[in-house]
Amino acid sequence: MTDLVAIARSLFVDGKGILAADESVHTATERLAEHGISTSAEMRRQYRDLFIGTKGIEDYLSGIILFSETLLEKGNDKKLFSKSLAARGIAAGIKVDLGTEPFPESPRELITQGLLDLPERLVEYKKQGAEFTKWRAVATIEGDRLPSNTALHENAKRLASYAKESQAAGLVPIVESEVLYEGKHGRARTKAVVEESLEVLFSMLNEYAVDRASVILKTSMVLSGEKSGKKDTPEEVAEDTISALLKVVPKQIAGIVFLSGGQTPDQATENLAAIVQQAKKVGTPWPLSFSYARALQDEALSIWKGKEENVSAAREAFLSRLEKVSVACKAKVLADNCIISTFPVYS
Ligand code: 13P
Repeated sequence: MTDLVAIARSLFVDGKGILAADESVHTATERLAEHGISTSAEMRRQYRDLFIGTKGIEDYLSGIILFSETLLEKGNDKKLFSKSLAARGIAAGIKVDLGTEPFPESPRELITQGLLDLPERLVEYKKQGAEFTKWRAVATIEGDRLPSNTALHENAKRLASYAKESQAAGLVPIVESEVLYEGKHGRARTKAVVEESLEVLFSMLNEYAVDRASVILKTSMVLSGEKSGKKDTPEEVAEDTISALLKVVPKQIAGIVFLSGGQTPDQATENLAAIVQQAKKVGTPWPLSFSYARALQDEALSIWKGKEENVSAAREAFLSRLEKVSVACKAKVLADNCIISTFPVYS
């Protein structure tokens, strides 16, 4: 097994997942503002410390994705964040895309930027302690018109080019293909778009000769749009998500993690539990886990409000959500006779 495959597999230990703590300066500013917190570089560092500095996270997290700024910073314990993660057996990851911009050929869609100086940046991130990377592409649903074929292809091409560069630099790539939850579309339309975007993505990864065994897919769950007026049951989400993934995702990849995408923490937890149960029931070739930002952070942020006196209560809320998501990820509640042991877990 190559080092990259070993790192990719180590992120899928039973019951553990990945915290996405890689909000750009712009997104972190928005996130904190939603909770009445005004931003500065020091406030962003404290925001990261709130989560990374929580004792016991190593019971639930195999990795944390950081933003470039954080990789160079120290926590309140005066240790580099990357070093304090390594000491607890948590792999440090890094967001390497430089965000999205309107796609010139179809301006209501978004295209991800950041390929230009990527090889040089990857070398630096590796020196700074990163073991894996993430690049996020998004697909917008608008009736049957969007996403356009050209936007899906261009985003997939950039994801594949990034994944190839990341592997060449000795870093495990997480290819994130997010189908946005915003919109009035139904679940069937989301399913079709998830299938189409992943089909295009995997054919592009093939074209770029990306090694599948050390690639991790980060994907959306198959949900009805936020403004559809429909509330999907966890069983409906689970059936459609697993059926879409089984149709288009090659069996050789290292594993699949889900983003929370704007779901409430409870919704993201319940849907994950149902998805993992469904995976065990039908038998899937890849391990599944979580890589949430909002669903893991929101409750803690609303308690913290940027105040020192709220740190311990906020950390308790964070740990409590982590524990619930971890239980969901193990799908312990499933009746024994439904479990099929072909669901792989690396240990
Ligand atoms: P959410 O879980 O908030 O969707 O974030 C995941 C992520 O990494 C987005 O890039």
